[in-house]
Amino acid sequence: MLIPNILAVLAAVAIGPSVSAASSQAYNWQNVKIGGGGGFTPDIIFNPSEKGLTYARMDIGGAYKMNTDGSWTPLLDWADNTRWDYWGVDAIATDPVDTGRLYLAVGMYTNSYDPNNGTILISTDYGTSFTESPLPFKVGGNMPSRGINNILYFGARSGHGLWKSTDYGATWTNVTNFPSVGTYAPDPSDTTGYNSDLTGLAFVTFDYTSGTSGEPTPTIFVGVANEGSDNIFYTNDAGATWSAVAGQNNTYLPHKGVLSPAEKVLYISESNGSGPYDGTLGAVYKYNITSGVWTDITPVSGSNLFFGFGGLSVDLQNPGTIMVAALNSWYPDGQIFRSNDSGVTWSALWSWGSDSTLDKWYTYSDSLAPWIGPDYTVTTPGTLQIGWMMEGLNIDPFDSDHWLYGTGMTIYGGYDLTKWDTVHNVTIESLANGVEETAILGLISPPSGPPLLSAVGDIEGFVHYTLNTPPNASYTNRAWTTTADIDFAGNKPSNIVRVGTATSSTVLQVSLSTDSGATWSPDYGAAANVTGGHVALSADGDTVLWSTGTNGVMVSQNMSTFTAVTSLPSGSIIASDKLNDSIFYAASGADFYLSVDGGETFDVTSTLGSSTAPVKIVVNPSLTGDVWVSSDKGIFHSTDTGSSFTALSAPSEAWAIALGAPASSGGYPALYAAADISGLVGYYRSDDTGATWVQINDAAHGFAQASANVMTGDPRIYGRVYIGTNGRGIWYGDIA
Ligand SMILES: *[C@@H]1O[C@H](CO)[C@@H](O)[C@H](O)[C@H]1NC(C)=O
Ligand SMILES: *[C@@H]1O[C@H](CO)[C@@H](O)[C@H](O)[C@H]1NC(C)=O
Ligand SMILES: *[C@@H]1O[C@H](CO)[C@@H](O)[C@H](O)[C@H]1NC(C)=O
Ligand SMILES: *[C@@H]1O[C@H](CO)[C@@H](O)[C@H](O)[C@H]1NC(C)=O
Ligand SMILES: *[C@@H]1O[C@H](CO)[C@@H](O)[C@H](O)[C@H]1NC(C)=O
Ligand SMILES: *[C@@H]1O[C@H](CO)[C@@H](O)[C@H](O)[C@H]1NC(C)=O
Ligand SMILES: *[C@@H]1O[C@H](CO)[C@@H](O)[C@H](O)[C@H]1NC(C)=O
Ligand SMILES: *[C@@H]1O[C@H](CO)[C@@H](O)[C@H](O)[C@H]1NC(C)=O
Ligand SMILES: *[C@@H]1O[C@H](CO)[C@@H](O)[C@H](O)[C@H]1NC(C)=O
Ligand SMILES: *[C@@H]1O[C@H](CO)[C@@H](O)[C@H](O)[C@H]1NC(C)=O
Ligand SMILES: *[C@@H]1O[C@H](CO)[C@@H](O)[C@H](O)[C@H]1NC(C)=O
Repeated sequence: MLIPNILAVLAAVAIGPSVSAASSQAYNWQNVKIGGGGGFTPDIIFNPSEKGLTYARMDIGGAYKMNTDGSWTPLLDWADNTRWDYWGVDAIATDPVDTGRLYLAVGMYTNSYDPNNGTILISTDYGTSFTESPLPFKVGGNMPSRGINNILYFGARSGHGLWKSTDYGATWTNVTNFPSVGTYAPDPSDTTGYNSDLTGLAFVTFDYTSGTSGEPTPTIFVGVANEGSDNIFYTNDAGATWSAVAGQNNTYLPHKGVLSPAEKVLYISESNGSGPYDGTLGAVYKYNITSGVWTDITPVSGSNLFFGFGGLSVDLQNPGTIMVAALNSWYPDGQIFRSNDSGVTWSALWSWGSDSTLDKWYTYSDSLAPWIGPDYTVTTPGTLQIGWMMEGLNIDPFDSDHWLYGTGMTIYGGYDLTKWDTVHNVTIESLANGVEETAILGLISPPSGPPLLSAVGDIEGFVHYTLNTPPNASYTNRAWTTTADIDFAGNKPSNIVRVGTATSSTVLQVSLSTDSGATWSPDYGAAANVTGGHVALSADGDTVLWSTGTNGVMVSQNMSTFTAVTSLPSGSIIASDKLNDSIFYAASGADFYLSVDGGETFDVTSTLGSSTAPVKIVVNPSLTGDVWVSSDKGIFHSTDTGSSFTALSAPSEAWAIALGAPASSGGYPALYAAADISGLVGYYRSDDTGATWVQINDAAHGFAQASANVMTGDPRIYGRVYIGTNGRGIWYGDIA
């Protein structure tokens, strides 16, 4: 199906015969700039024939194309709730002949987390539009080993073997004469299916020196995730027959196989884990295709070898110049090696100096994402500067000075790489401008102070003093990596609470701020190892109600020890009144609960129709007891402090909801919902307390999985809403 047809499908649903179909309103959508990526970039590829044509793929955040200024443009923002798993990109290929052609293998998980089969997305216009070619099995862009795997051969995971397309990806057939599907799984006993999934095929590398243009390439190498049995295979007859390459050492898993065409050599990186986190041993090999001779060119040995190898690249302008990344060198930092004599000798990006200090053979620049840089790393013991999970490393085939590599947090690289060989000092900078690959878990937009504060997976979260420039730092007094939720006090909006997810005997997972998030102090009422969940701060900021992820619902006033709220079921959703310090709200199943004693006790006051899964409670900031609840059965409204609820006629199901500034001063707040209205899951606004809705997202902005997203309305700007996604950062939308 052509992507433009998605528009047609959406329109057909919206104007179909179903009742109360929403009209739409044009919105301007932009990312709230965090900058610097924020998540794992498994691979970055340069087209070998068209200068400047460069793509990056993400494990949960789609794919990007590089612009001429080095910034990046996202390619899969159109993925909506029905195609949420397209943001998991497991393989990417750019056509060296017809360079407009781009292929993506998409799908998030191969286990039960994702019910959908995988898809090959095919573009003939550099990713501007795609057609979809369904695969008869799942693809896992966010599975283990996601830093390896390739495409128009597609090396599948999960035991599905090698797949081939001879019609530009439109149809795929199983290459059943390929001898191995890979037997390695990170943990065969994992009952979730996540770590027990077979890693499968690691790379498919064409020896394009072996053929004539226009004919199928006769020689192809395939790496397979087998440990201790043949794992490098080849064909010399364009796939008619396949054999194991003789003389190989298959102690470790192959990760990357890169051709050096001028040398007629295949370089291979290997690790004893499938990645992206693991591996403590590994090797780098050189295979001379002409002579069939293997050479072990591993840069380090003995006690210096405590990692596997991932990203691998050759400088096409300088045959014999190669680089390889330690997949994960966790201490003291990541490591990258470079050789200009085909791996006979190597030099490293850092080495131990005198007095156990590091000689860093690089200069570090964080100008495009200041929060990532030395400020972040130096203050956080154990956090690395060069990076981790380094599977994608490539030298620009047209510019020996330009290189890029993906890490668990950003895209690094530089423009002076050949200085490595002259003065042995290169500049490394975060070059992920335009990449927003964060999972957003909570958002607040208080009525005064900074416009937005975020709770973010893996990188804590930020005070967003401005929306269009990257923050200088994540939350100060960092105590954990993932912030699960955040709330502010209605009467004292500079009072903020947030909760973290780290299991720790020492670091308490509740933090309080009285200066709009500029500084934080621990809530000493919290106990060790109580983590996660959702949090609500009372109107005057003295009481924290915490629906924990581990210990049921708890409450604390004035930083006293948190005590169990026995009248609420574990996992209840919660909210504070924004005016009355004594009032909290909660819901679980179909039951709505009210507390009038500062969260100490709750009583069921009403039911939410036949709801089984309430999602979010929001409270009118200027009217105590005016409460909205979203659930699997739609949206419910109470104007009497929860004594009774009215179900809106639409939507039929809703996830994140929010209130924002009213259309006119003194009017009722604008109501926002991620919701299913007449069968169309989208993002909607109502200016008349839910009587009518307008759709505010469009075909170019799908925001992927609705149930994974969070939302908050701006109390100062009518029409402005913030959406936090699972993989594409934070967006803000304004009426166009
Ligand atoms: C996935 O493909 C298989 C094989 O064609 C098919 O049996 C299965 O129904 C598909 N699953 C989904 C969810 O489409
Ligand atoms: C593809 O072929 C391999 C054998 O090479 C087989 O093990 C695998 O089950 C096949 N996969 C599918 C989805 O048919
Ligand atoms: C294969 O590689 C392993 C790990 O590097 C090494 O210990 C072993 O000696 C190698 N085997 C041969 C036959 O070279
Ligand atoms: C890699 O080898 C080391 C040393 O033998 C071992 O401790 C580690 O568990 C291995 N890693 C994996 C992922 O197999
Ligand atoms: C590969 O082997 C051939 C034949 O022995 C030799 O001539 C050639 O120099 C080798 N290539 C490299 C890059 O070592
Ligand atoms: C590399 O250059 C930077 C900037 O001039 C300098 O701080 C650093 O010490 C140099 N590295 C080494 C190992 O000399
Ligand atoms: C190769 O690298 C070494 C060490 O980094 C350096 O001394 C040498 O000048 C380099 N050779 C070339 C041709 O760049
Ligand atoms: C970052 O810090 C600089 C210098 O203190 C300041 O001028 C700038 O406004 C800050 N930027 C943000 C986004 O906070
Ligand atoms: C908290 O978890 C740590 C492990 O992260 C454990 O060592 C410690 O005993 C736990 N403390 C409590 C109070 O459960
Ligand atoms: C919390 O502090 C406020 C203000 O000082 C006080 O009125 C209230 O009684 C305190 N609550 C408890 C439980 O100590
Ligand atoms: C807050 O609510 C409580 C419980 O309903 C009530 O007793 C109290 O008077 C309210 N406070 C204010 C300031 O309205």
